[in-house]
Order: sequence, then C-alpha cells, then structure tokens
Amino acid sequence: MLRLENLTCGYGETQVVRSLSFNVKEGEVLSFIGPNGAGKTSTLLCLMGLVLCKEGSIFYNEKNITSLPSEQRIKEGISLVPEGRRIFPDLSIFENLMVGGHTLSKDKCLKNISKGYDYFPILKQRKNQLAGSLSGGEQQMLAMARALMVNPRLLLVDEISLGLMPKIVDECYEVLKALKGQGLGIILVEQNTEKAIEMADHIVVLEAGNAIWKGSSEMAEKEDVIQKLLI
Ligand SMILES: Nc1ncnc2c1ncn2[C@@H]1O[C@H](COP(=O)(O)OP(=O)(O)OP(=O)(O)O)[C@@H](O)[C@H]1O
Ligand SMILES: [Mg+2]
Repeated sequence: MLRLENLTCGYGETQVVRSLSFNVKEGEVLSFIGPNGAGKTSTLLCLMGLVLCKEGSIFYNEKNITSLPSEQRIKEGISLVPEGRRIFPDLSIFENLMVGGHTLSKDKCLKNISKGYDYFPILKQRKNQLAGSLSGGEQQMLAMARALMVNPRLLLVDEISLGLMPKIVDECYEVLKALKGQGLGIILVEQNTEKAIEMADHIVVLEAGNAIWKGSSEMAEKEDVIQKLLI
C-alpha cells in the first residue's frame, strides 16, 4: 500500500532523513524507532506532504504521490495523529472532531464522530467539554479520533504514549489493534520500544537520519537488536 524509495527529506538546505526505503502493506504495522532528532517526525510529515521531499519517491497504492499536496493525500486515505496531539484547546471535543471531518458531508461527519465515540466512549461523555480542559490521555484519544474522521487506510501515529498512564496507553493500543484488524496500514513512531516491538510486523531503526537496522519484530526480539542499538 505504501512504498518509499530512497526518500531524502529536510528543511531548507538541510537533509534530516537520507535515502530511506520501506514498504507497508494493508493490515501491517511498521514501527519507527530512534533517538530524539533522528528524523521520525520529519518522515511522517514528509509522507503527509508537510515536509519537503528532496529526493526519492513515495508510492501509495502504486500511485506516485511524491508531489501531491497534503489535502489530496488525505483524500487518498492517509491521516496523521501528530506529535504533541495538536488539538484545538478552545474548541469542544465535538467541534474538534467536526474540524477533522471538515472535508466530509455533514451526514458522513456525524457518522464518523459516532464511530470515534465508539472507540473512545469517554469522548462521548465529554463531547461538549473544551479540549484544553481534558487530561493528556483524553486529548490523545481525541487526536486519534480526529485523525480517524477521514476514514484513513494508512494511519501515521507519532508518539501516542508519551507522558500517559499505562492504562491509557493500553486503551489507545487496543484501538490501534482493532484498526490493524480492519486492514489499516499503520506507521508507529514510539519512544516506548517495548510497545512498538510488540505491535510491529516490521521495524525500522533510524539514527541521525539513516536507517541503521530493518527487520521483523521476531528478528528484533531474537537478536535483542533494539536494546543493543539504542544503548
Ligand atoms: N521545522 C524545522 N526546521 C528545521 N529543522 C528541523 C525542523 N523540525 C525538525 N528539524 C530538525 O530535523 C531533525 C529531525 O527532527 P525530527 O523532529 O524529525 O526528529 P524525531 O526523530 O521525531 O525526534 P523526537 O524523538 O525528538 O520527536 C532534527 O535535527 C531537528 O532539529
Ligand atoms: Mg518526533
């Protein structure tokens, strides 16, 4: 469903990720692991069309989307749960979800909001509450529900577990597992390597913009790769 070929991306003259290649198939999770500043977020933003792709190509369902604007990529079925959640604090939960679905018809929007509430019932209970007054975990759930408003087939998920209680992290991961079960492709960026490996079919370890290891989660566990690489 997604194929990256020698992707190089960056800001201005600077390259922050070099010659990165990987594939994600339907129903597969690819975990992207690496230290701070490795280029994980930049790669996700480049896939969304929000960071400049300097070299290489991005294919989505065999279509070259390398120069497609962000809005078009969302229409094609790619959606991002951004690092730091980026919810709108002065809007209610319901309004945040409406913004997430602003490209849809009203009926479709309401239907998808209702699906979001099924995934995260707490959002329904608090639907009129301002997003800024929610706990970190609730804000994360809102960010996920908002990304799902467009019915993505490929979901990019940046650091969802950061700063959250283990119970909430588990709840978010249950939803990701359900989405994987529905055939969504998922790219997971995680500092929580245990969770990232547990959930992954494939793993890419990124360091200073270079992929220094790629393999299956079984290989990673067997070789104790991640621990060795990240020490
Ligand atoms: N808007 C920007 N302009 C210029 N350089 C940037 C910008 N955003 C990020 N960078 C640089 O790009 C490099 C990769 O950053 P990125 O945020 O992609 O890393 P990351 O792996 O997501 O890190 P973290 O684990 O801290 O989230 C870093 O050197 C960072 O300073
Ligand atoms: Mg990041």
